[in-house]
Amino acid sequence: MKRVFSGIQPTGHVTLGNYLGAMRRWAEVDQHRADALFCIVDLHALTVDHDPARVRRLSRQAATLLLAAGLDPELCTLYVQSHVDEHTRLSYLLECVASDGEMRRMIQYKEKSARQRERGGSVRLSLLTYPVLMAADILAYGTDEVPVGDDQVQHVELARDLAVRFNQRYGHTFVVPEATLPGVAARVMNLQDPTSKMGKSDSGQGVVYLLDEPDAVRKKIMRAVTDSGQEVGYDPVERPGVANLLEILAACTGGNPESLADVHDSYGSLKKDTAEAVVEVLRPVQARHRELCADPAYVEGVLRDGAEKARALARPTVDTAYRAIGLLPPV
Ligand code: TYM
Repeated sequence: MKRVFSGIQPTGHVTLGNYLGAMRRWAEVDQHRADALFCIVDLHALTVDHDPARVRRLSRQAATLLLAAGLDPELCTLYVQSHVDEHTRLSYLLECVASDGEMRRMIQYKEKSARQRERGGSVRLSLLTYPVLMAADILAYGTDEVPVGDDQVQHVELARDLAVRFNQRYGHTFVVPEATLPGVAARVMNLQDPTSKMGKSDSGQGVVYLLDEPDAVRKKIMRAVTDSGQEVGYDPVERPGVANLLEILAACTGGNPESLADVHDSYGSLKKDTAEAVVEVLRPVQARHRELCADPAYVEGVLRDGAEKARALARPTVDTAYRAIGLLPPV
């Protein structure tokens, strides 16, 4: 059976982009066809300015939402990254095969560090080494496939490069992983600025959160920026706002963006259908989330068992890497 690994950062409230780009597939497809691990990557949330209490709260919330979205602890392993030391143990070894130039070329590093500097802040060293920790997350588990949205592809490619380089230098240790993307909605765009990704840390009306009330979802989608055209057509380059709505609608209804464009004769009707489709997709997730919030002990139990399973899976690979790279076994 294939091994699948993926993760989500507790840096903000979970968005429709996270759901359509990644989480929904984890629940509907990956956990059923593979030996799958899903991780709340809380260490990654410390790479930018953070409030400790908020990270803790968002970590619990992400776990609860993942279960609400359909992850089943009988089928997959769900846990918190900081509960399994193997991630940081392996990350250091991978820092010893990665180069600083490689890190500086990462798009997310360039974007996030520029934003941080614009605000007059300093850039945490961990933001630069972030992709190495992410590679460790993936490689520690002998992962074959990493289901992610489009924005994470460069990071998964780095994990591949590091795996190949380590294997060449020190002997075969790691499986070389591959990113898998959804057919539609691999990059859900901000509704107010459809040339940039809908991100957890964006603020305002451009982001639909998984826990938004139906009326808030409707309002945000009805106010989405489109263009001055009239006819509905799918053209992500020239008409990114309309294309984004078509992709969201396609992802929610199982259709495809081009043929959905043909059946809408105005932006108004496209927005209305998209809003209702999103509300319907979120409804069962939100209902299950309410139930799970009433049972925090269940969620804690899932995370405890998950961490135990994950530790047992990661330890042999990480120990092998320690020996391969030249570290003396403990006596
Ligand atoms: P994160 O927390 O930003 O996002 C979690 C998942 O959601 C996807 N995603 C999107 N997909 C479509 N449209 C969007 N607007 C959108 N926004 C986010 C992301 O691609 C991701 O799949 N670095 C990762 C977390 C991570 C990880 C890992 C992932 C750490 N270690 C190991 C996989 C394997 C991140 O920041 O995801």
